[in-house]
Amino acid sequence: MVRPPSGDNDVMPAETTVASIACLFAPPSAVDVDLLVVPWFTGEAMGSFHDLDEATGHEIGRALASGEFRGRPFDVFLTPVIDRRWKPRRVLLVGAGGEPEFDIDMARKLATSAALGARQRRAASLGFVLRGGLPDASGDTDVTAFAQSLAEGLTLAEFDGGSYKTGESVLGAPARLAIVVYGVKDGTPDTSIRIETAVSRGRLLGECSNLARQLANEPGNTLTPREFAARAAALASGGGVSVDVFDERQIAELGMGLLLGVARGSAEPPRLMVFRHEPPSAPPGAPVLGLVGKGITFDTGGISIKPADGMDRMKDDMAGGAAVACAMRAISLLGAPIRVIGVVPATENMPGGRAIKPGDILRSAEGKTVEIINTDAEGRLILGDGLWYARKLGATHLVDVATLTGAIVVALGKLTTGIFGTPPWWVDHVRRIGERAGDRMWPMPVYADYFDQLKSEIADFTNTGGRPGGSITAALFLKEFTGGLPWAHLDIAGTAWSEEARPYLPKGPSGVAVRTLAELAFTAASWK
Ligand code: BES
Ligand code: MN
Ligand code: ZN
Repeated sequence: MVRPPSGDNDVMPAETTVASIACLFAPPSAVDVDLLVVPWFTGEAMGSFHDLDEATGHEIGRALASGEFRGRPFDVFLTPVIDRRWKPRRVLLVGAGGEPEFDIDMARKLATSAALGARQRRAASLGFVLRGGLPDASGDTDVTAFAQSLAEGLTLAEFDGGSYKTGESVLGAPARLAIVVYGVKDGTPDTSIRIETAVSRGRLLGECSNLARQLANEPGNTLTPREFAARAAALASGGGVSVDVFDERQIAELGMGLLLGVARGSAEPPRLMVFRHEPPSAPPGAPVLGLVGKGITFDTGGISIKPADGMDRMKDDMAGGAAVACAMRAISLLGAPIRVIGVVPATENMPGGRAIKPGDILRSAEGKTVEIINTDAEGRLILGDGLWYARKLGATHLVDVATLTGAIVVALGKLTTGIFGTPPWWVDHVRRIGERAGDRMWPMPVYADYFDQLKSEIADFTNTGGRPGGSITAALFLKEFTGGLPWAHLDIAGTAWSEEARPYLPKGPSGVAVRTLAELAFTAASWK
């Protein structure tokens, strides 16, 4: 791989070879692991777990009776197994919350929290019990969906954000992972194969999410646009995606005045990444998914410079671009049946001597002119050219992903991605796929009359519409570059980075949107 082009830091993420997750179709007593993880509903009776209780010397029964463990979400109870005939060394009960509310999202989160707990406890191996016949509040009772989400969740616990720490890691090494399939009603060989397939799919989607988190976690001094492009290209082409990386001159030839305008303030040259998944089986005239991701490797705000407080966070302003690159890898490795095009414009937003200034006019590749009011509204600029290019390459359905506006954090907080777009069926579809994949989204409007806020006296429109409805006017700006195609815009400014540790998500990059984008590429049969 390419070394960092600048700075003295030569730390590179190691190409990790990841072990697969074993599927064990066996009773818990026969599973040879350090830690047997059993999800437990609030108020659940002992039921089929009398044996387990006995094997722990009735510690489970005691903890339930005393109220020490009540099965509330993410509660844990750890106890040794004392029956020598049992293979697991210890049992970790994890609270699964109320049974009626349980769904695949909760299963995924439980798996992550349990696997993080296993690392803390220095367990070398973990067996997560996939309990058969688990109900699902969303009406999804397919055991394979649970198996996949468990594999995703277990894998998400392998991310380590401390890649530049030189001391001992706070977390232990990731445990060897197994899913213990127990009590699944239909235990035919066919079910086992389907469960195994689902587990390896979940494993891959979890890995690709972690790769995106690794990229988003990387600081601005190592992850320059050139380095971002080099690493993203390596990840995607390693998965079989064909990748082109365009330099400044080629970007100029495409006429991308918006991307070049943002890049002017930086000493680091911009890059444009283009990813293509082209399965030979995709017939001509079939839908082509176009994914566009914001790739600002550091956002100072430019001449409209940001306050110092919290500016360090702006190293993750390429999280959308990372999601696109890593989703492309997943899409290819999983063999999506349709063509998918990924476009990631990458640049720094810096206040250099040649930087764009408020009042400047830029011409987009599409031909439309933009009056720059605030140089900190740079994401929509580079995405404008990116969306145009995805269309030019033949995309028929568009999704863009961007840490676009502080206003979406005001509107929805940090737990929900804002989804915008048109027509409604496409937005609803992306949202439904996203929620299943663990990326919660809430719809925001793109009413046309908000566009009045982008009126310019001198050019076609401005790049900012003031504070009111800041996320909506940003979306309306993007809409100008979608050529009327079905388009969904995910504003991940609140969700790309976790500011507070949660049981299932430590502080740091979340990997938002990777699984949504990847899963979307498998749903084209239902598109209009
Ligand atoms: N990258 C920021 C948006 C952002 C803010 C992401 C907070 C994550 C957390 C974006 O480029 C930006 O600066 N947006 C401006 C737009 C404004 C100038 C119209 C904003 O939200 O303040
Ligand atoms: Mn900005
Ligand atoms: Zn930005």
